[in-house]
Amino acid sequence: MRDSIIVALDTDAHTALALARTLQGRVRWLKVGMTLYYAEGPEIVARLRDLGFSVFVDLKLHDIPHQVRGAAREIAHLGGGMFTVHAAGGRAMMEAAVLGACEGSAECGFDTPDVLAVTVLTSMDEVALAEVGVAGPVGAQVAALTSLARQAGVQGVVCSPHEATAARETFGPEALVVTPGVRPAGADRGDQVRVATPADAIAAGASHLVIGRPITEAVDPGAAVDRIVREG
Ligand code: C5P
Repeated sequence: MRDSIIVALDTDAHTALALARTLQGRVRWLKVGMTLYYAEGPEIVARLRDLGFSVFVDLKLHDIPHQVRGAAREIAHLGGGMFTVHAAGGRAMMEAAVLGACEGSAECGFDTPDVLAVTVLTSMDEVALAEVGVAGPVGAQVAALTSLARQAGVQGVVCSPHEATAARETFGPEALVVTPGVRPAGADRGDQVRVATPADAIAAGASHLVIGRPITEAVDPGAAVDRIVREG
């Protein structure tokens, strides 16, 4: 369970680094999202890696294949362990991300980062999808993009725990299925609507659980992790 937890550091760099030190030896993965990354720059990835963590670089790349290949190569140079791309960027773009990750790791000697596809943002419903020209139910679009991501050769997807079983079926047993929206039993849901407990998310097929505030805002973040591990 400890290796399955990814702690989302949606904080400033000072707090992120303090949290990281508290969590050393307790979890393997930390997630750097856009806010922390754009505030602190690529250096934050290296600093967290230097503390012994695997770093999930969650920048949700979406651009022409050439640009995404270059970004993927740079993420590999930083030693990122996983990163995200939007599946809506298309097959060629996702293939370019996988290629760039392989090229970058070959150049610098770090392990090749895994590429995760984001299908439909959970902030979008059927109406929002229609506004950007995608007709039909959200689930159908999630399924289509999950299948495309698999064909493009990425290593997995980010999805809600409620989509994890379908993602696991599409991608197979080796895939990474990374689920946010995870709340320990009895925890405050915050602004997450469709939540699952860590045990339920794993049972549904998740390989990794993104957990932010239940750990980062706990009085004792280390103890919060230990509780989740015990319950899991
Ligand atoms: O604090 P909390 O556990 O809700 O944090 C979850 C993390 O997962 C945040 O970094 C959030 O941006 C991310 N996330 C999410 N829902 C998605 C995709 C990502 O909550 N559908």
